[in-house]
Amino acid sequence: MVRNFTKERLLPDQARGFINLARSSPRAGNTEGIRYSLLENKNIDIYWETTLGENEKESFPWPGLLNAPTLIIVWVNPNSYLQRYAEDDKKRTGLGADVKNWSTPYWWVDGGMAAMSILIAAESDNLGSLFFGIFSHEDALKEKYSIPEEYRAVGTIAIGHPAKNQRASKSTLRGRASLDELIF
Ligand SMILES: Cc1cc2nc3c(=O)[nH]c(=O)nc-3n(C[C@H](O)[C@H](O)[C@H](O)COP(=O)(O)O)c2cc1C
Repeated sequence: MVRNFTKERLLPDQARGFINLARSSPRAGNTEGIRYSLLENKNIDIYWETTLGENEKESFPWPGLLNAPTLIIVWVNPNSYLQRYAEDDKKRTGLGADVKNWSTPYWWVDGGMAAMSILIAAESDNLGSLFFGIFSHEDALKEKYSIPEEYRAVGTIAIGHPAKNQRASKSTLRGRASLDELIF
């Protein structure tokens, strides 16, 4: 993950291309329950104004993240999954009746798969990217970008050209377990 970007913009339609690749991500029941906000220019200003107050902006630990020229928010619609799993070929699962019936809510799984596709696509174009959380700002962002009520936010992906100096986050410094430790 890259948290310090230059202000250099992406090529025209480059970010649309990443979302186009994410259209091919696996999704449960081939449900069409994912949408994206593709934010550039003024919409990026609105994003940071909404999620960081003026005071918070000054003390924000990742100022180079605010340079990212492109942000993509991944949205999922649980109701699309309920409708899909109520169809004839899925009815026997009982998942169409209520979100509570889902031991693994596939909208979050699919949203993660779509987000990962975008991250890989950006890396493949030698760009840097960061997936980061929206936390308590979901409703405010929905209002600002006129997102329909039933959608839920998976998270935001910042994409841009990596700046020279990258500071590792505390999480990154934890390292990764070895392959042998990971396999039950
Ligand atoms: C679901 C999820 C949420 C994350 N949220 C944040 C976040 O809010 N802020 C952040 O700086 N990084 C966030 N990350 C990035 C992780 O910290 C990062 O992937 C992890 O530390 C491993 O580092 P690496 O991806 O650079 O190898 C998130 C990653 C995932 C998958």
